[in-house]
Amino acid sequence: MSVVLGIESSCDETGIAIVKNGTEVLANEIASQIDIHKVFGGVVPEIASRQHTKIISQLVDQVLKSVDEPIDAIAATQGPGLMGALMVGLSFAKALAYSWKLPFVPVHHIEGHLFSAFLGEKVPEFPFLALIVSGGHTQIIQCDQAHHYRILGTTRDDAVGESFDKVARLLDLPYPGGPSIQKAAVDGDPRAFDFPRAMRHKGNLEFSYSGLKTAVLYTLQEGEKDVADVAASFQAAAIDILLIKIKQAIHQTSAQRLVVAGGVAANQLLRDRITTELDVDVFLPPFKYCIDNGAMIAAAGHSRLEHGLTGDFSTTPNPSLSL
Ligand code: KG4
Ligand code: ZN
Repeated sequence: MSVVLGIESSCDETGIAIVKNGTEVLANEIASQIDIHKVFGGVVPEIASRQHTKIISQLVDQVLKSVDEPIDAIAATQGPGLMGALMVGLSFAKALAYSWKLPFVPVHHIEGHLFSAFLGEKVPEFPFLALIVSGGHTQIIQCDQAHHYRILGTTRDDAVGESFDKVARLLDLPYPGGPSIQKAAVDGDPRAFDFPRAMRHKGNLEFSYSGLKTAVLYTLQEGEKDVADVAASFQAAAIDILLIKIKQAIHQTSAQRLVVAGGVAANQLLRDRITTELDVDVFLPPFKYCIDNGAMIAAAGHSRLEHGLTGDFSTTPNPSLSL
C-alpha cells in the first residue's frame, strides 16, 4: 500500500499524477503540447523536450500542493518515446527521489497504458489479454501476471494511431488525427469506400496499417471526395481490423478478460464495438486515462514497487525499450 508520484514525458504530454494503492487517483495534471505542434502537423522532438522542461516543475508543484498524503516512491517513463522528452521526466524523477531519499521506479510506457485499466471503476484481475492501441504501438499482449507479458501480435509497419494521424493529414484535418477523424466521420457513410482490412485472412495476430493509409491516398488521388465519407470509411476499416484480430486472439487463448488501452482506446466506435461484440469481460480505462498521462505511470510504478522492481540512479532513458 503506497502513494506514488508518476511522471510521463515520452511524447507531447507532460503528465504528473499522484496515485494511491495503484488504483485511486489523488491528483492528475496533464499539460498537452498539441497546440504547439499542430502547426507542424506532428510532434517536433526538440520542441517537445523544451516544453517539458518549461512546465514540469510547475505541474509537480501543483499536484503536490493538492495532496496531503506523504509520497512513498517516484515513478517515471523510461521508454519507449522521444529521447530528449524522456530525459526531462526521468531526470526530474530521479532528482526528486534522490533528494527525498525515496525509491525510484522506471516504467515502460506500454506497461503504463496496461495499468491505466486499473484506474477505472472496474479493476481487472490477472490473467488477461490486452489490446494496446496508441500512436506508436498496436499490440495484443498476453498478461499472465503483473510484469510477465507475452506479445502475441504486433504491427509490421504503422501503428493504428499513427495511421489515424497520417490519414488526417491527407484529409487536411488537424493533428492529432484520431479525434479529428472521429469527429469528421460522424457525418460520413462508413460504407462509402471499401478500404482493405489487411491480413484478415492470415491465421496470425499481426497487424499492418500502411496499406490502409495508401488505399486512402489512392482514393483521394482519383479526384475530389467527401471528407466525411473518407474519414468514416477509413475509421470503419481501421477499427474493424482490431476487432477481427482481437476476436481471433480471444478464440486462440480462451481469454476471459480483455483490457483495451492507449490513445486509440478513446475512439467511440472501438469502445462501442469492443463492449457489445465480445464474449469476455472488458476493461476500458476512463477517457482521460487513455491518452498519455502520469496516473497510469504511477499505477504501474505502484505494482513494480510491490514486486521489488525498482530502479537505481544509473537508470537512463531508452527510446526503444522493450516490454
Ligand atoms: O497513447 P497515446 O496518447 O500516445 C502514444 O503512446 O502514442 O496515443 C496517441 C494516439 C494518436 O495517434 C491519436 O491520433 C490517437 O492516439 N487517438 C485516437 C483518438 N484519440 C487519440 N485515435 C482514434 N480515435 C480517437 N478518438
Ligand atoms: Zn502512449
